[in-house]
Amino acid sequence: MCGIVGGVAERNVAAVLVEGLKRLEYRGYDSAGVALISRDGQLLRRRSTGKVSELAESLIQQPLIGQLGIAHTRWATHGAPTEANAHPHFSRGEVAVVHNGIIENHEALRKELQGLGYAFASQTDTEVIAHLLHYKLQEQGELTAALKATVRQLQGAYGLAAIYLGQPDRLVAARSGSPLVVGLGLGENFVASDQLALRQVTDRFMYLEEGDIAEITRDTVQLWNHEGQPVQREVVRYHEGAEAADKGEYRHFMLKEIHEQPAVVQRTLEGRLGQQQVLVPSFGPQAAQLFGRVRNVQIVACGTSYHAGMVARYWLEGLAGIPCQVEVASEFRYRKVVVQPDTLFVTISQSGETADTLAALRNAKALGYLGSLAICNVGISSLVRESDLTLLTLAGPEIGVASTKAFTTQLVALMLLTLAIGQVRGTLQAGLEAELVAELRRLPVRLGEALAMDTTVEQVAQLFAEKHHTLFLGRGAQFPVAMEGALKLKEISYIHAEAYPAGELKHGPLALVDADMPVVTVAPNNALLEKLKSNLQEVRARGGELVVFADAQAQLSNGEGTTVVSMPHIHDALAPILYTVPLQLLSYYVAVLKGTDVDQPRNLAKSVTVE
Ligand code: F6R
Repeated sequence: MCGIVGGVAERNVAAVLVEGLKRLEYRGYDSAGVALISRDGQLLRRRSTGKVSELAESLIQQPLIGQLGIAHTRWATHGAPTEANAHPHFSRGEVAVVHNGIIENHEALRKELQGLGYAFASQTDTEVIAHLLHYKLQEQGELTAALKATVRQLQGAYGLAAIYLGQPDRLVAARSGSPLVVGLGLGENFVASDQLALRQVTDRFMYLEEGDIAEITRDTVQLWNHEGQPVQREVVRYHEGAEAADKGEYRHFMLKEIHEQPAVVQRTLEGRLGQQQVLVPSFGPQAAQLFGRVRNVQIVACGTSYHAGMVARYWLEGLAGIPCQVEVASEFRYRKVVVQPDTLFVTISQSGETADTLAALRNAKALGYLGSLAICNVGISSLVRESDLTLLTLAGPEIGVASTKAFTTQLVALMLLTLAIGQVRGTLQAGLEAELVAELRRLPVRLGEALAMDTTVEQVAQLFAEKHHTLFLGRGAQFPVAMEGALKLKEISYIHAEAYPAGELKHGPLALVDADMPVVTVAPNNALLEKLKSNLQEVRARGGELVVFADAQAQLSNGEGTTVVSMPHIHDALAPILYTVPLQLLSYYVAVLKGTDVDQPRNLAKSVTVE
């Protein structure tokens, strides 16, 4: 998704802006650009389709120099990914704007501005902001006042930054529905859509709230809230090492992040487990009181986070006896929902900025839920700020677009939630919580054992390199794991992959099975194993090639057309977390064999901040 970086300094800010854009590359984009105001009073611009490295190279060949500037990576929504549609957008060579989000009333504004004599050079919704700001400058005579007047006319979502040739000592920014952070330096200040972009210049950040407007000079930062009142926002110091954004010894961020799972799962558990129980206050001071009233749970999320929610449904109902519904946010937000009494509303999100999930939370507030809980990886995200309770997954920054460590830490958090609600409501089977707490403590070691299968899975990946379709099967809580396996494979290798509950095979998908359609199955040693084995026979009988990740005690063996990869034994309740790992590795190695862009798959963005 789009990224914004801006800065005002004594030094030339071009290099800082480009480095910031590089750090935002992981969000996905298709063009990039930078605009600067030079000391001799010129508004300069360079844009390019393709990679930020190409923009950087062009700035090395023909430098642009300026002490004030804004830059952007664009992920096309309105208009194709061309240079003309790339940001920054100009108005009459005096104003430059970069924008994340979508302006919903852009067509009406475009007509109005055309009527006022403004000529449009792009098909973007953003260009209306540049011209509107220019028009308001004529009325207000000053950039901040003009921005305030501009945003009053914008409908939709925006995080934006702008500069104006007439006031070359400042940049202005506004946030509504798309995150922005101010980075505080010494004699220089910055703005970005994600603090990651600014960590090379500062570790002090001020997060804008919904509706905030910022005016930023080298020495000052002034903020106003949505009512136009001057406000202060807390300055937060970022502690984690900037090295988190490096690949280290790994070829791709995705592989690095898969291998981080034992450590980040450990971190997510730390301080949250007592001797024999989950520490309920980990969810916040009001958690015990709130959980005591929970009779139902509604989970809402997107993509991989939705799959985590689907696993949690098996846990909440199966272990804690709490009815649970799970829905993708883009559906939930537009549906008339009947809310059961005493329902806890739970959102799950790596980024905490996913537009649909946030909108679902905002809608839910008016629907009479008991309260809201965010399971999220970004502590300062909108989702966390707007929820009553939070449980942070401590996966650290996830750079690979395909979510891996965020998913397994979400599962851990959801297991903690299941046990916490069950504990407070008294619905857990005697001894189960102590048993699972002990198993959770062993989980990082088990994950390490699963990762040790790396080279075996790499060999298995060869089976898929020439294939165009695959089927993933699972039963019970392994069905969402199969869905997640299929999503990973399709998003990074571009091989069509579908997931089915194994019992559904004969109700349709079996018709697809032949020697060209490998079938991947996860088979822990549980009550459903024998049924799963029959499903596998159905596949073999049709000449289908099977890859089975199976418990060492599952008594499944390699044979013609059947590859069995033996998994460490694990408590059935935690099996979804462990069995996710080989499926992540499988997609990774298939994608490497296919030579795709593993960390930045085509058409996808890391943080989906627009609908
Ligand atoms: C897939 C993936 C996406 C995200 C989805 C929600 O690998 O990463 O499906 O899970 O876009 O994102 P978050 O979790 O940030 O709300």
